[in-house]
Amino acid sequence: MSKVLIVHAHHEPQSFSSSMAKTAAGALKAQGHEVVFSDLHAMGFQPVSDRRNFRTTADASYLKQQQEEAFATEHGGFAPEVEDEIRKLEACDLLVFSFPLWWFGMPAILKGWVDRVFAYKRIYSRGKWYENGVGHGKRALVLLTTGGSAAKYSPGGLHGTIENVLSPVHLGIFWFNGFSPLPPFVAWEAAHLSDAERGSILKNLELRMAGIFAEPVIELPRVAEFDPATAVDTVPRFMVTLRRNAQTESVSGSLRPEETEYLRDLHRQGKLLSLQVSSNTAKNAEWRCFLLMRERDVETVRTLCSPLTRGSLSISEITALETTAAV
Ligand SMILES: Cc1cc2nc3c(=O)[nH]c(=O)nc-3n(C[C@H](O)[C@H](O)[C@H](O)COP(=O)(O)O)c2cc1C
Repeated sequence: MSKVLIVHAHHEPQSFSSSMAKTAAGALKAQGHEVVFSDLHAMGFQPVSDRRNFRTTADASYLKQQQEEAFATEHGGFAPEVEDEIRKLEACDLLVFSFPLWWFGMPAILKGWVDRVFAYKRIYSRGKWYENGVGHGKRALVLLTTGGSAAKYSPGGLHGTIENVLSPVHLGIFWFNGFSPLPPFVAWEAAHLSDAERGSILKNLELRMAGIFAEPVIELPRVAEFDPATAVDTVPRFMVTLRRNAQTESVSGSLRPEETEYLRDLHRQGKLLSLQVSSNTAKNAEWRCFLLMRERDVETVRTLCSPLTRGSLSISEITALETTAAV
């Protein structure tokens, strides 16, 4: 059985976000997993990072957080509330961040938990990151409620894709520290759901938790794939342009659900870095979808895109992008 840490950030215990966190905890416990629940508001967690992070002092004249963290790591100098959370983080096999989306990100109390708990030298250091990070072989999940609809967070949608919005968490926190992110569990427009809709989301969440240690993770670039001298990716990138066949039915613009699903899966596999689509109002003949792909060669890119061309899409161009070192 595995150890799960749920870090929950909602100030209202009766909120749907809080219901989701409790449901996930209950479902995981029912499977025999050990669940530790850090309910940040209930704990009164203090999220501001400053000298209160430490019991020790490396330099009283100038506060440099990473220097103090390195010193505290060597001397057992973390404040008790930080040390407790660090231990929970170090022990878990699955890390869950549960929060409502606030300003396209995490509420400050959770961001503050990250700022204080992911401590330099203790959790990460130069080279102790990505596939060499403390979370290597472990998983991490975002449990999210949003105000905006799924359509607004879909390709071409008003807010950009949810993958893009969550990238600072998935790449910058989870994967940076070695935890493999899982596709997020999202309750869209949580404030406007009926009781029946809420019930069915919680049911889906229970089902998702049942397979959470078996499902595929989101693959993100490994540090070993980047040139150590230039920090440039050694895996080539390609821009693929897709168009909608003009003679096909009248439906104009945007991607169909099955196409979006397939592209999401390519993204999860680390093959698709980003995409852009023409506006919904574009006529079929003018509509384009641009995929930025990361793959060894053009033939593999073509093969990966071929399922998309079984419907009414076709590939109009694949361009190899040259990577150059940043100057
Ligand atoms: C400070 C604040 C910022 C918010 N920012 C966003 C946002 O960037 N995107 C979004 O879709 N919803 C946003 N919302 C709406 C919340 O995500 C939404 O109310 C919440 O997820 C509903 O779940 P709950 O009822 O469990 O709180 C924001 C709400 C607040 C209070």
